[in-house]
Amino acid sequence: MSAGLWGGRFESGPSPEMFAISQSIGFDIRLAGLDLFASLAHAKALHAALLISEEELEGLNFAINTLISRCSEGEFNVDSSDEDVHSALERQLGELVGEELAGRLRAGRSRNDQIATEIRMYLRIELVRLISEILQVIDALAAKAERYLGVAMPGRTHMQQAQPVLLSHHLLAHAWPLVRDLARIDGLLERLTESPYGSAALGGSTLGLDPELVAEELGFASSVQNSIDGTSSRDLVTEAAYITAQIGVDLSRLAEDIIFWCTQEVGFARLDDAWSTGSSIMPQKKNPDIAELTRGKAGRLIGNLTGLLTTCKGLPLAYNRDLQEDKEPIFDSLDQLGLVLPAMAGLVATLAFDSERTELMSSAGFSLATDMADWLVRRRVPFARAHEITGQAVRFCEENGLNLEQMTDEQLAGISPALTPEVRQVLNVHGAIEARNGAGGTATVRVSEQLKHLMDVTAAYR
Ligand code: ARG
Repeated sequence: MSAGLWGGRFESGPSPEMFAISQSIGFDIRLAGLDLFASLAHAKALHAALLISEEELEGLNFAINTLISRCSEGEFNVDSSDEDVHSALERQLGELVGEELAGRLRAGRSRNDQIATEIRMYLRIELVRLISEILQVIDALAAKAERYLGVAMPGRTHMQQAQPVLLSHHLLAHAWPLVRDLARIDGLLERLTESPYGSAALGGSTLGLDPELVAEELGFASSVQNSIDGTSSRDLVTEAAYITAQIGVDLSRLAEDIIFWCTQEVGFARLDDAWSTGSSIMPQKKNPDIAELTRGKAGRLIGNLTGLLTTCKGLPLAYNRDLQEDKEPIFDSLDQLGLVLPAMAGLVATLAFDSERTELMSSAGFSLATDMADWLVRRRVPFARAHEITGQAVRFCEENGLNLEQMTDEQLAGISPALTPEVRQVLNVHGAIEARNGAGGTATVRVSEQLKHLMDVTAAYR
């Protein structure tokens, strides 16, 4: 270990403890490829500013490209004396072209603008990956919705049976939040188009380097407006962490439904063998581990977000070393979703529903009571009165072990003369579902349209 990057001012190198707390190579090594691409662009800017010769530029390009191929072959060598990815690269560059030329590359840039640029580049790559993984889950939900179109299930509020809905309508209700997550990613990608490279430590460089040139080389639309902001802000990282946490929360709600559906008491769905686990002690068990881990990891993703926000809160401008703490949580959140999204896509794709059972349970719990009340409203009974009449009918049925549709003409009339036998026409599950045919409703015709719309909206992201 040495004071390699700042030796002149220091009589001694850092203590082992100083070095240990400082070292980030263990996690920022994954930015090595991006650091090298940025270095190629920076060499070009140095040459354009006449700070290195043609020959020196060629030497640097050759060495950087050599390191890029080492990197892609996984042969990038890390030394225990390397503090971070930037110093590791400078050391290796020195080994290839000599310390003098390698040392020229450091002119006009700082690890502050390097890391701020590279984390943005990293997010851009990872967010695009995330889009395709989210689409897999949406596709799996859409395929199930199509497969079971027309099948009824009990809809719930407060976890109590409320009204029958189409199973497909419920499945698609889990797809739309993910569609909004796609839009959130899209919005963030639009904000990730400015490069901080050239901001140097905080105020820019005196050397006449062109930040726009580097921005363009690295695929950004432009360089940042403000070098202090460029090097010290991490709101784009926290925004990415929020989006990953939101995806985690959205998936955890789907996971919870699947866990519930697969209980013996509910029995609406069965897990595929390859997408579930058994128990080491109870031979009969089939456990929804993917759904449980998804639910559990949502907590971890929220933790990463709150940790990041807390790190940034109250930090003075410009760069502070606290900002090094941004990387592990955001890397972790993106990595975890790389496990969760494909697993959930497979879990949904292989889930088998028991349509007979979801149909059977759809009329339980007096789930057609609203339909009775609405029928009375169409007969000019004020809703408040209709609500009361229906409530009395439910109580009567409860006391006599009946369902609403099983009441005799006399029993109906006994509750209220307004309850004529025709009310039975609306007391069936599919009638109730198909009657809810306003925009966004659960009627089959609306759900088919919804499915088509979902495909149109997601096509834009493919
Ligand atoms: N490892 C640092 C980070 O992740 C890079 C910048 C270090 N800058 C410095 N002046 N020590 O933020």
